[in-house]
Amino acid sequence: MTCLAPPADAIAAVTHPNPYPWYAALRRGPALVRDERLGLWIASRADVVRELLGNDALRVRPAAEPVPRAIAGTPAGEVFGWLVRMNDGPAHAAAKPALQRALAALDPARAQPAAARVAEAMPHAPLADFCFAFPVRAVAHLLGFADETLPALSAWTRDFVACLSPLSTPPALDAASRAATALFGRIATLAGAAPTPQGVLLAAVRAETPEAGSPALPANLVGLLSQTCEATAGLIGNSLVALAREPDLRRRLASRWDLLAALVEEVARHDPPVQNTRRFVARTTVVAGTVLAPGEAVLLVLAAANRDPALNPAPATFEWMRPHRQTLGFGWGLHACPGQALALTLAAAGLRSLLARGLRTDLLLERGWDYHPSVNARIPRFR
Ligand code: HEM
Repeated sequence: MTCLAPPADAIAAVTHPNPYPWYAALRRGPALVRDERLGLWIASRADVVRELLGNDALRVRPAAEPVPRAIAGTPAGEVFGWLVRMNDGPAHAAAKPALQRALAALDPARAQPAAARVAEAMPHAPLADFCFAFPVRAVAHLLGFADETLPALSAWTRDFVACLSPLSTPPALDAASRAATALFGRIATLAGAAPTPQGVLLAAVRAETPEAGSPALPANLVGLLSQTCEATAGLIGNSLVALAREPDLRRRLASRWDLLAALVEEVARHDPPVQNTRRFVARTTVVAGTVLAPGEAVLLVLAAANRDPALNPAPATFEWMRPHRQTLGFGWGLHACPGQALALTLAAAGLRSLLARGLRTDLLLERGWDYHPSVNARIPRFR
C-alpha cells in the first residue's frame, strides 16, 4: 500500500485525497499560523474562525483591489464589483437582506419537487456535467426562467465562475466576461418584463429590493447562480464519494430515500465543498493574541473548523443522524450563506435523480476520482 504524502500547505489541502489528518494537526497547533510562502495567516479552530468572521476590521476583499486586477474594467469585473459576497459596508447592507429574505421565503415543499422536475427533464449526461449543470438550472427555474433557457444559463454560469478563481487562464477570463454580459442581459430582461409571475424567486427578490433599476439587482441574481454552481456541484460530488466509500450508507439509503437530506447535511460538515475562505485586514486588530496588520490576509479553513471537537463530538466520524450538528461550511456571521437550506435541498434532489437513473456509487470506487483544480472548492472529478 502506498503511503499518501500530506498536503504541502492549506491550499494544496483543498484538492488532496485526504487532507483531514493534516487539518487536525494544524488545529492542534497555534491559533493562527503564518505561512510565509503563501503570504497568509492560517486559522483552523472553530472559535478562531468565528472570531475572524465576526471581526469588522477584516474585509472580504483587499482594500486596494476590490475587483481582481485580472478582470477589472471587464464585464465580468463589473458584475463582480456588485456582488454581496465581494462587498462589505453599505453595498453589502443594501443587497444582502433582500436576497436573504427572498431565499428564506422559498418553501422547501415547493422547491424540492420543482428541483426534482428540473433534474428529471435533463438529458443523460456525463456525471460531472450533471453535477455542475443541475443546481444552476434548478435555481434559474426557481428564479422564473423558462425551461428552454436553462441549458444556456447554466453554460454561461459555468463560464462566469472562472472569474472568481485566481487559477483561471486569460481565455477563460474572456469567456467569463462574455458570459457575464449574456447572463446580466437575460436577467435584466426577465426582471424588466412585467408582470413577474408571483411565487417565483425573482418576484420575491424584487419585492424586497428598494432600489429598482440599480445594476445591483441583476448582478446579484447572476451571483445567486454563480454561488450555487461550484459549491453545490461539490456537495453532490462529495456525497457520491461518501456513498462510494461506505457500503453501509448505500444499504440504508436503498430503503429510505428520505435519508438523503441527512446524508448531504453530514457531508456538508464532514467533507465540505467550500474548504476555506479569506479575509483581508483593513485596520490593525488582535485575534487570538496575534496582531494582524492592515494589508495582511487570513485563510479561514472552514473544513478544519467543521471537525473541531469543540464544535461537534467525534468529529472525524461520518454520523448520518448526528444530533445538533454544527457546521461552518456555509460561513458564519454577516456574510453567512443565505442559500444553505436551498443548497441542501438541491443536493438531495440531484442525488436522488442520479440514483434513480441507476448510478452505481459502488462502481465509483473502481473508476476513481481526483479533484478539480481550485484554491478553495473541493469538487470531485470522477474518471
Ligand atoms: C453546497 C452549496 C453551498 C455552499 C457550501 C456555500 C457556502 C458559502 C459560504 C462558505 C459562504 C460565505 C463566504 C464567506 O463568508 O467568505 C457563502 C456565501 C454566499 N452564498 Fe453560499 N454556498 C452554497 C450554495 C449557495 C446557494 C445555492 C446560494 C443561492 C442560491 C448561495 C448564495 C450565497 C450568497 C449570496 C453568499 C454571499 C453572502 C454574503 O456575502 O453576505 N450559496 N456560501
